[in-house]
Amino acid sequence: MNKVKLTIDNIEVEVDEGTTILNAARQIGGNIVPPAMCYYSSLKGSGGKCRTCLVKVAAGSSKDPRPMPKLVASCSTPVQEGMIVENTVNPEVLDTRKSIVEFLLINHPLDCPVCDQAGECDLQNLSYEHGLEQTRFEFEKRTFDVIDIGDKIKLHMNRCIMCYRCVYTANQITDGRVHGVMNRGDHSEISTYIEQAIDNDFSGNVIDVCPVGALTDRTFRFKSRVWFTNPQNAHRDCPTCCGKVVLWLSGDDILRVNARKNHDNEVEEFICNTCRFDKKSLSDWEIEGPTDIDRHSVISQNHYELPVIDQPKKLTP
Ligand code: SF4
Ligand code: FES
Repeated sequence: MNKVKLTIDNIEVEVDEGTTILNAARQIGGNIVPPAMCYYSSLKGSGGKCRTCLVKVAAGSSKDPRPMPKLVASCSTPVQEGMIVENTVNPEVLDTRKSIVEFLLINHPLDCPVCDQAGECDLQNLSYEHGLEQTRFEFEKRTFDVIDIGDKIKLHMNRCIMCYRCVYTANQITDGRVHGVMNRGDHSEISTYIEQAIDNDFSGNVIDVCPVGALTDRTFRFKSRVWFTNPQNAHRDCPTCCGKVVLWLSGDDILRVNARKNHDNEVEEFICNTCRFDKKSLSDWEIEGPTDIDRHSVISQNHYELPVIDQPKKLTP
């Protein structure tokens, strides 16, 4: 595979040809990585919907070093040799990101105090970093009834930001998809076509990929705030999926089971509904140890690490 060199926020990186700017930034890591609310590396076709990952291409390539005229979506723009990309160092990008957050929040209710996703919501984190304190939107937000999708999943369409991740998940990893996007523009909504239950082995994964609290686990709803729980990595010998999960514990009670996520907050391996919904006893699992949560999240606040303190130097007389 040919390699391509480019610069992102003044840091040089070499990546495979065809890599997107976002994935090149992820290879550098740290706070220069643009946020992504719709792109999901394991879902084909995802990205290009939310615009939170916009960056400035200050030089297109070494052959044609002209800047790109508009900000581009880093999740769907491939890198070029000699490209210069600006993210956090460009005030125009940061300013635009503020507007995107404001736009996403036009219809998204600020119900974090009662939302199960609080503490692990990408939009909540994004708003803290880039949001405005007040809204300028004077009209009524669009509202929908909360509906059950089967007996395990709840859909709060009010909170949906139309990222399409759940649609791609249902399309690509489950059989006989029955849910998708209906209608156009402001009227778009996630629907299960006449509210049919999603009923197949991997449908619960739509909960994990949802960046907000639009799709939640009915077996966990209102049981606890996530930051009061104790996340532990565990596995079991599962005939259907990898069986590698995170158990969210309260004492010896398993309040929730979900797939393990990487530091980009993406599922590492999708899990089946039996592991997710039906194995809620400690004897079902082999515990590996505490889950390392290094994401930007309130959950990581209780994971205290001891500071490295220099030993006082001995004074020689
Ligand atoms: S329900 Fe969640 S995952 Fe599905 S489109 Fe809406 S925000 Fe995205
Ligand atoms: S993550 Fe790039 S447009 Fe949504």
